[in-house]
Amino acid sequence: MAGPHLGRRAGARERGRVCLSRETAVTQTALITGGSSGIGLALSRRLAGRGWRLLWASLSEDEIAAARGDILTAHPDAVISGLALDLAAPDAPARVLDWAQGQGGCDLLINNAGFGVYGPSADLALEAEQAMIAVNICALHALTRLFLPVMEARGGGTIVNIASNSAFVPAPDLAVYAATKAFVKHYSEALTAELEEANSPVRVMTVCPSAISDTPFLKRAGMEGVRTFTSFTATTAEEVARDIIEGLDNKRPFVLTGAAMRRAMWLMKLAPAPVLRWMTRRETRRV
Ligand SMILES: NC(=O)c1ccc[n+]([C@@H]2O[C@H](COP(=O)([O-])OP(=O)(O)OC[C@H]3O[C@@H](n4cnc5c(N)ncnc54)[C@H](OP(=O)(O)O)[C@@H]3O)[C@@H](O)[C@H]2O)c1
Repeated sequence: MAGPHLGRRAGARERGRVCLSRETAVTQTALITGGSSGIGLALSRRLAGRGWRLLWASLSEDEIAAARGDILTAHPDAVISGLALDLAAPDAPARVLDWAQGQGGCDLLINNAGFGVYGPSADLALEAEQAMIAVNICALHALTRLFLPVMEARGGGTIVNIASNSAFVPAPDLAVYAATKAFVKHYSEALTAELEEANSPVRVMTVCPSAISDTPFLKRAGMEGVRTFTSFTATTAEEVARDIIEGLDNKRPFVLTGAAMRRAMWLMKLAPAPVLRWMTRRETRRV
């Protein structure tokens, strides 16, 4: 997929130009899909605290309004614009690009919107699985492709793609969700390498959070009573946001969020494949 943008040279410009300190970042803009909930909202709070302008593309207009009020209470000077749309719609990524460009463009794109649906694949509605693929894969891929050349033309930027710890191992009862996150991880890591080789001024960072106890995600996915490694890798939206910001500050290409998940990853690397599959099955079964 060596598009014309990949051959361009960054020249003297710094790769992945994002300045996260409050003093230097006043005019910078972050576009966060799903910025009005969970991880997106925790990230938004931190970026608003550093003086970033925020653009959100989320599903619910009411949720955007409520989350905007929440941020403005803590940061009265924050500048936040929202676009309510269904990212599963084929024309949604192009609409997001047009809207963001109309707002002055962005220096940081965080492809965070996503959802899961729990249950045996054969029992789930085909439409529900297809919508999951449309949001978690198609919209993320299209937004990455659409914003990449625009950021290169601006002289730099960073794209953060949110995968999951589900990206590492096939997960029964989360078959399609885990497969969408495996796509995000493989695609984003390969893109990081391609952009580095091409000396592009744009960087891509891949993020793999473990199960988060305090966002609506698990409930929305119908995963009450499912362990999903929560007993030993559970994290919070705040911890995930902190680790992502730390990753951006340090220009990391890959971030595994949460200290517990980083410890568990060592065990996963040492465990034989059949043991890993047995453990995954145990953790994805409803208790
Ligand atoms: N929570 C976990 O355990 C966990 C673990 C690993 C990875 N992740 C990943 O982290 C990301 C954020 O999850 P979260 O925990 O913060 O969940 P969340 O609070 O449910 O946030 C998901 C966001 O995505 C938006 N969204 C979902 N479907 C959409 C659609 N069709 N069109 C537009 N926006 C849509 C939601 O908008 P509305 O709220 O307006 O519907 C919401 O803002 C997801 O990609 C998820 O797969 C989560």
